[in-house]
Amino acid sequence: MILVTGGAGFIGANFVIDWLAQSDERVVTLDKLTYAGNLGNLSPVRDDARHVFVRGDIGDRALAERLLAEYRPRAIVNFAAETHVDRSIHGPAAFIATNVVGTFELLDAARAHFAALPEPERARFRFLHVSTDEVFGSLGPHDAGFSETTAYAPNSPYSASKAAADHLVRAYHHTYGVPVLTTNCSNNYGPRQFPEKLIPLMIHNALAGNPLPVYGDGGNVRDWLYVGDHCAAIRAVLERGRPGETYNIGGNAEMTNLEVVNALCRVLALQRPGRDYAAQINFVRDRPGHDRRYAIDPTKIRAEIGWAPRETFESGLAQTVRWYLDNSAWLAAVTSGEYKKWVSLNYATEDA
Ligand code: NAD
Ligand code: DAU
Repeated sequence: MILVTGGAGFIGANFVIDWLAQSDERVVTLDKLTYAGNLGNLSPVRDDARHVFVRGDIGDRALAERLLAEYRPRAIVNFAAETHVDRSIHGPAAFIATNVVGTFELLDAARAHFAALPEPERARFRFLHVSTDEVFGSLGPHDAGFSETTAYAPNSPYSASKAAADHLVRAYHHTYGVPVLTTNCSNNYGPRQFPEKLIPLMIHNALAGNPLPVYGDGGNVRDWLYVGDHCAAIRAVLERGRPGETYNIGGNAEMTNLEVVNALCRVLALQRPGRDYAAQINFVRDRPGHDRRYAIDPTKIRAEIGWAPRETFESGLAQTVRWYLDNSAWLAAVTSGEYKKWVSLNYATEDA
């Protein structure tokens, strides 16, 4: 069995669904169900006897100890986090609580559990920590992509909190010998992503006939990866990664935000014709401290693990738009209530 934290969120849910489709190994999902967590994301495995869902906080030490003792997972895959950069600017405290203190509590429970494990369970045990390329800071236009030896230089409260967690994970290997693996991935997109992030936000606004708010000049660059490819990379690192190592994961798909939004408008025009979506593009006030460019050098994961993305940006985007069009009830459910408050806070009228 494996323990997956944050498995009701975007990447975690895709990971659990893919895992159970490809393996008979059971999964226990631990998720606090914050605004970003949604049991509807796990609906494909709702009646699967191999899956157990537990609502709870990774920072709840007693709960983590109970789950480890009861289920004896051979691995913990830690997705649970506060993840939205703009929210970390408006309210950083939750990012420190979950991403730093929560990861610490989970890691420390894993350390105690690992120390008491008999062989051969001990030799098999892994703690895989899912992190981000944002810990490396911002690249210039001609810089090489982030490699595993790039110095950490986080610029937002979100990336600083993820960097802090990464350092704790590293230290637990160095000091206590906990068999950790860390992955630092670029921007994901795909089904079940909360519509506060660029691509689903733009799909939601485009379909609703609302402005498509591009920050600044739209020239910031991200390296886009389809979520199914990220999940495959994590599975491969879990099986073949060397304890104590970090692996960067990227999509070989660098694009400016304006290129992404225009590509999305073209896909929408094909799949839901009838509107000039690009005419809805609206340049708004920039994000404070907005990192200009991220890019991943995937040499290590390709050479050592044998992983490479299967989807192109075009194929992944077409599948993503199709999913959102086919799942309008999901979109309507997650864009009610609290979501509206967030939109009015972050996209105040002076921005538009
Ligand atoms: P998400 O915001 O969609 O989901 C996060 C999940 O964690 C939610 O289900 C939420 O309820 C849960 N959660 C939050 N706080 C918790 C706590 N204290 N205890 C238990 N559960 C808690 O996030 P995502 O986009 O799926 O990201 C998952 C992980 O991948 C994060 O660690 C993130 O930093 C990392 N990551 C994301 C991306 C991306 O592009 N989305 C890229 C690289 C890395
Ligand atoms: O790089 C990995 C990271 O990617 C993950 O660690 C984060 O959890 C994830 O949220 C994502 O961070 P970004 O800040 O890059 O993603 P976001 O979707 O918020 O924004 C992508 C780009 O689009 C960024 O340059 C900001 C811009 N943007 C975003 C929003 C929400 C806009 O122009 N308009 C918007 O309304």
